[in-house]
Amino acid sequence: MILYTPEKMLYRFVLMASRHGMDPEKCSGAHTSGSSGKERPDRCIGGGEDPSGFSEKTGGGPGLSTTRDYHRHVPVDLMRELTICESFAGPDSPYAVALESPSSYGAMVGDFLARNGLLRENAIICEAGGGYGSLMHGLLSSRGDSIARIYMIDLSRSLLQKQRLLLSAWRERITSIQADIHEIMGAFSGVDLFIINEVLGDLNTLTAVDPASIPREVRELVDAYDLDIPDRPFNFNIGAVKLVETLCRSGVPAFLSEHSCDPIIPESMPFLAKGLELDAYPREIRLYRHSEYTIRFSHLERVARAHGRRVSSGSLIDLVGLKPSRRLETIFLTRACDTDTHEIIFELLDHIREYRWLTIT
Ligand SMILES: C[S@@+](CC[C@H](N)C(=O)[O-])C[C@H]1O[C@@H](n2cnc3c(N)ncnc32)[C@H](O)[C@@H]1O
Repeated sequence: MILYTPEKMLYRFVLMASRHGMDPEKCSGAHTSGSSGKERPDRCIGGGEDPSGFSEKTGGGPGLSTTRDYHRHVPVDLMRELTICESFAGPDSPYAVALESPSSYGAMVGDFLARNGLLRENAIICEAGGGYGSLMHGLLSSRGDSIARIYMIDLSRSLLQKQRLLLSAWRERITSIQADIHEIMGAFSGVDLFIINEVLGDLNTLTAVDPASIPREVRELVDAYDLDIPDRPFNFNIGAVKLVETLCRSGVPAFLSEHSCDPIIPESMPFLAKGLELDAYPREIRLYRHSEYTIRFSHLERVARAHGRRVSSGSLIDLVGLKPSRRLETIFLTRACDTDTHEIIFELLDHIREYRWLTIT
């Protein structure tokens, strides 16, 4: 169900409420008061019980890591998370010194989409988890003439409001929907492209799964897609895997990016592999009042291929066009950070080297 709020600016999707026969008005009240920043249980969706049937981890056995309450009830500060998108919010960002041609992340993604035939004329685009709206701002500023309509989906009401403010120049082309990706994506049709940038790590992750007693829901996915799993307890990106399954069923092309646990180091910068001690399975990243998990991209690729979709993936370093140089190599290998610029470059390289993009067409 999609409701139209009195502010005439926000649709709210309350699938679970209607499924459970709850009153959507009461549900919408719970969400609105949540935007005050006080954490409180949500009686309509999520709360203690997750639709996946797993409970949050209390010790022993697999648990569910979910950021649902955090994103719904806490005013999110993305500057604490250092997303690549915000790091390159504009061509004048401090990190832009490392770029071949300084630009905003949204414009760089737009160039990438156009080069790869993913941005058609008069495109209708759905971005889920748009944060402050910086990617869409860069995309519309550089390629707004080719974009007819935008749907912005987000769990966070405060972020949807920030997005609308930043994107006010294109207001009449934008529809904002407060909804959970886990629930709404399967109901979406009539779009030409999904953009899901640095969101997968926020989605549900099953933690400490014992390979000797795998929960049925994971076993079904592992068997259906022949997913490789280790012979020791592991974390499983169940939200991301199911999202890709849903995107594939929709038949719509998608661009995704996230912090990976199986990164691709660009051939032009082999030195970036130094000190990477990854076991290729999702690991926890603790952030302010929530945790994210890195994403096993090879699982997502397998799911998409099994659905007959074409898959392409690479390092975000190549997408943004970091210029390989002896200077970058020296700063990274020796950590010779005797100026602020060196420190910024080191921090950027150390962070972005684990990020990947994935397109599904
Ligand atoms: C880490 S931020 C990334 C923001 C932006 N895409 C960027 O790259 O800077 C994650 C975004 O996804 C949203 N989000 C997280 N979980 C979600 C869910 N289950 N459904 C919808 N949106 C979600 C958050 O509110 C936030 O806007």
